[in-house]
Amino acid sequence: MTGPTDLRAVLADDLDRARRRSNALTDAVDDADLVRQHSRLMSPLVWDLAHIGNQEELWLVRDVGGRDPVRADIDHLYDAFKHARADRPALPLLDPTEARAYTRTVRDKVLDLLDTVAFDGRPLVEQGFAFGMIVQHEQQHDETMLATHQLRVGPPVLPAAPTPPSAGPVDGEALVPAGPFTMGTSTEPWALDNERPGHPVDVPAFFIDRAPVTNARYQRFIDDGGYHDERWWSPQGWAHRLRAALAGPAHWHGDGSCTRFGRRSAIVPDEPVVHVSWYEAQAYANWAGRRLPTEAEWEKAARYDPSTGRSRRYPWGDDDPRPEHANLGQRHLSPAPVGAYPAGASPAGVHQLIGDVWEWTDTWFDGYPGFTAFPYREYSQVFFGRDYRVLRGGSFGTDRSACRGTFRNWDYPIRRQIFSGFRTARDPLPGEVA
Ligand code: AVJ
Ligand code: FE
Repeated sequence: MTGPTDLRAVLADDLDRARRRSNALTDAVDDADLVRQHSRLMSPLVWDLAHIGNQEELWLVRDVGGRDPVRADIDHLYDAFKHARADRPALPLLDPTEARAYTRTVRDKVLDLLDTVAFDGRPLVEQGFAFGMIVQHEQQHDETMLATHQLRVGPPVLPAAPTPPSAGPVDGEALVPAGPFTMGTSTEPWALDNERPGHPVDVPAFFIDRAPVTNARYQRFIDDGGYHDERWWSPQGWAHRLRAALAGPAHWHGDGSCTRFGRRSAIVPDEPVVHVSWYEAQAYANWAGRRLPTEAEWEKAARYDPSTGRSRRYPWGDDDPRPEHANLGQRHLSPAPVGAYPAGASPAGVHQLIGDVWEWTDTWFDGYPGFTAFPYREYSQVFFGRDYRVLRGGSFGTDRSACRGTFRNWDYPIRRQIFSGFRTARDPLPGEVA
């Protein structure tokens, strides 16, 4: 493990990477654009920016550091539970210049604190947790701001590097044999409360797609009339499909092209499909004679090492993600073709579990056995229940600091403004598995 000096350096580096990303996302557009609401589902970008600073002030400057507030008067404006996203543009928010100055002031105090803070004695700072939490919080809002950019109308403003090509086809499904595995973690230092504690789950044998469902496969569902065939949809899904007049993934134009971050381009057949809702993913799976994986199945496929029986941090092992492992961190502005990350495959040959697209699972977001809210109920606990479905694995817009084999995301089953795709699974046929 890293010693305190290394930990300080790692934290400073992670904080800096997050801030350069926040700045890039907000400097890319003018002030009028920053205060505008590009979609009722999203905050104005300037809200995300000041909210990032405000959370950093609350947890690091005030709580960990015990220092005086920088701007106690603005807490209520940036409390996500006080004002719905749609109502945020009307608030007396900090303007872009003030928001930038505020995040800089807070960050300077945090870097001061980082020089001297002791990483023990309090659960909140143990192994740098509070700093790691704030790094992840900023990166999560950066991904949200990236989703806002995708909803924004206008010419492209973000640089896009081409994705790596496929190193070869990845077809079919992998068998994950029956047996218990450890789901979640009690040891990963920056794991958030909903990933804890590690606990055994006995998972019956299942087959899972070796790659996420691609645009080409999804197109076959569309061409087969899948959006007009009620048989494939749940009652709620069908009602939503009618109400929202869904005809294909968001940002598709119905002529083989789609718009990404202001660029119109041909849909690439072997890239994972993105911007589909849970209801669409479920309808596709039904049409294909399959189903969505449960969250436990997804995690077992991603972490279980059959040679040791251990759960690993990532499909490729315990190393932190490197660029050859996964399409993370907004290096690219799209998912990469299936087969582009052979170094990131699991022992069973399942590819691209991490990065590219968030993958919908069949499971409602809930606490694991032994869950305790930490450090606040509003991070996870208030979302538990039958409202939100779990997504796993991170997307091309997720930073490596906010992505692990145990990391859990969640959203409403109708949502598709996030970078959401899926893969399918199935039970073994009678006699198929010994
Ligand atoms: C985990 C992505 C669902 O953005 O609503 C940000 C993360 N929590 N600020 C969200 C989060 C508080 C959260 N998600
Ligand atoms: Fe937040």
